Amino acid sequence: MALDKAPWKVGVVGYGRLGQSLVSHLLDQGPELGLELVFVWNRDPGRMAGSVPSSLQLQDLAALGERHPDLVVEVAHPQIIHESGAQILRHANLLVGSPSALANQTTERQLLGASHRWNHAVFVARGALWGTEDISRLDAAGGLQSLRVTMATHPDGFRLLGPLASAHITGPRTVLYEGPVRGLCPFAPRNSNTMAAAALAAPSLGFDHVIGVLVADLSLTDLHVVDVELKGPPGPSGRSFAVHTHRENPAEPGAVTGSATVTAFWRSLLGCCQLPSRPGIHLC
Ligand SMILES: NC(=O)c1ccc[n+]([C@@H]2O[C@H](COP(=O)([O-])OP(=O)(O)OC[C@H]3O[C@@H](n4cnc5c(N)ncnc54)[C@H](O)[C@@H]3O)[C@@H](O)[C@H]2O)c1
Repeated sequence: MALDKAPWKVGVVGYGRLGQSLVSHLLDQGPELGLELVFVWNRDPGRMAGSVPSSLQLQDLAALGERHPDLVVEVAHPQIIHESGAQILRHANLLVGSPSALANQTTERQLLGASHRWNHAVFVARGALWGTEDISRLDAAGGLQSLRVTMATHPDGFRLLGPLASAHITGPRTVLYEGPVRGLCPFAPRNSNTMAAAALAAPSLGFDHVIGVLVADLSLTDLHVVDVELKGPPGPSGRSFAVHTHRENPAEPGAVTGSATVTAFWRSLLGCCQLPSRPGIHLC
């Protein structure tokens, strides 16, 4: 991997399943790849004890500038993006692991404003979204007419809020939500990230026109299933261009992140370190 400057100083915000995996990769492989881990922050610092060297533990997120990071990776919760995303961009590029935060228009505006003001990039991890580049290309060419992302798993894998938290599971397969992704993100902030990535990959449709479907499926105890269905314009015969991908990702029972998505995040981290640091929102 050739970085335009080395070493790239990386900070990690959040030390759950994704954060632990990224920190371990950074400690093991970072030096040979030109990446230096400069801090790890977690809401509960006790969780880092014994596994993160104490010199790398950051107690106060507001003090991250003292570590001079080039890139801060958020793998905690959309709330961190709402509360601290713009502040992080003052000091470094930001890799957003919880893009459902961007369904909030105030947060999106604040991040874009800070990105341009401080000349730092907002990278968004594609996470579980298969075919991100193809969706973006079709969208940029003006050929995307509809995009629908269905995420199905066992109800134990959901962390739902508001009306969705009290929704009744009425059978083996229950549709909990079907509608614009913007309406789902506030109530399923940790289970709508793939749909949010799709909305960002397809700005012509965006959060208001990409359709998200959340399905509780009692048979999927150890699997996250994501279906992406898109349509383009009709051809000369009247039939439309159409793509349907179906992704089955093994997951630990009750986890919000499936195994293959953990690998995808590491590739996103490596990918965004190779991209130019230009303002705006960029999927990686
Ligand atoms: N883009 C995607 O496709 C995708 C896929 C999987 C997970 N994610 C998101 O990445 C994030 C991390 O996922 P994970 O599997 O590591 O989760 P996890 O539950 O294993 O870990 C989350 C960590 O963040 C901390 N945290 C939780 N709520 C917080 C809050 N309000 N403020 C600060 N810290 C908080 C927890 O203490 C924990 O250390 C989540 O937001 C998740 O939804 C995105």
